[in-house]
Amino acid sequence: MLERDRLDQIVCVVTGGAQGIGYATATELARIGGDIAIVDLDLRNAEGAARRISARFGVNAAGFVADVSNEAAVIEAMRAIEHALGAPGVLVNNAGIMTPRLAFVRDMPAADFDQMLAIHLRGAFLFSRAAIPAMERAGFGRIVNISSVMGLVGLPSRVGYAAAKTAIVGLTRSLAMEVARKGITANAVAPGYILTETLKKRLAAGQLDYDLYAERTPVGRWGLPEEIGRLIAFLAQPGSGFINGAIVPIDGGYTVRGDPGEDLGPRSATMADVERLYGFGQ
Ligand SMILES: NC(=O)c1ccc[n+]([C@@H]2O[C@H](COP(=O)([O-])OP(=O)(O)OC[C@H]3O[C@@H](n4cnc5c(N)ncnc54)[C@H](O)[C@@H]3O)[C@@H](O)[C@H]2O)c1
Repeated sequence: MLERDRLDQIVCVVTGGAQGIGYATATELARIGGDIAIVDLDLRNAEGAARRISARFGVNAAGFVADVSNEAAVIEAMRAIEHALGAPGVLVNNAGIMTPRLAFVRDMPAADFDQMLAIHLRGAFLFSRAAIPAMERAGFGRIVNISSVMGLVGLPSRVGYAAAKTAIVGLTRSLAMEVARKGITANAVAPGYILTETLKKRLAAGQLDYDLYAERTPVGRWGLPEEIGRLIAFLAQPGSGFINGAIVPIDGGYTVRGDPGEDLGPRSATMADVERLYGFGQ
């Protein structure tokens, strides 16, 4: 019998798991006993992440290489995962990139648009397709896709990203119907602004304004990768089987804020406070 809040001996595949939200998610899955398959573009980074997780939590973990948008590479990675760790019980479709060049539609190269759909949407489709047969055989599976607040609201200059993240919503809902009677759930999370190393670099380079988005976010700060990982790990637990087809915002209230001009009072929580209070980032 599966324990409702544990993932012992369950193989959890995290795409784009070498860093950022994916790595934090892999960490949270390992914290509740899951064996971890890190899939990423660079094998050494994936293996390094897997080694750190294995050393910290004593679970089986290994790194695998695949570009999630490449059909043959995804099939090969899943074969290698099953061979090394066992059949997947949890799949987190996390691999993704931020919009490399902000541009209005009238100026956007078609290749930039295509790339967004290929990595985020086709990648989630391909990995889900590769994982579902084993989940059906086991009668258990948890698929968690990563959408974004940009799958729920609009912002200019990011049409490819927004279209891909909105399409993830559609993929998740229809997939949830297909697998619901097989012991499998499919859900998505929609993060707001999350302070990953990648975005820290963009902040340091002046490409993003921390205060602008912290003020726009009702809780008055950005989120931490570990906060997203905790939610995904909850959705992945055996006991979360009645959550299916849900799109869960995790954005400090960003998408429900009616009028961004309304004064919500001074911002109090700093990122350092949050890290210290909850032991995140350690
Ligand atoms: N950081 C945020 O504020 C934020 C907000 C909402 C949603 N998201 C989403 O969360 C996910 C993770 O983002 P992050 O901020 O942790 O990014 P990140 O850049 O820190 O990490 C992304 C990881 O995905 C890998 N990756 C990229 N393209 C890949 C491909 N084609 N195949 C395999 N691996 C690939 C990268 O090598 C990297 O390890 C993405 O889907 C992103 O769109 C992020």
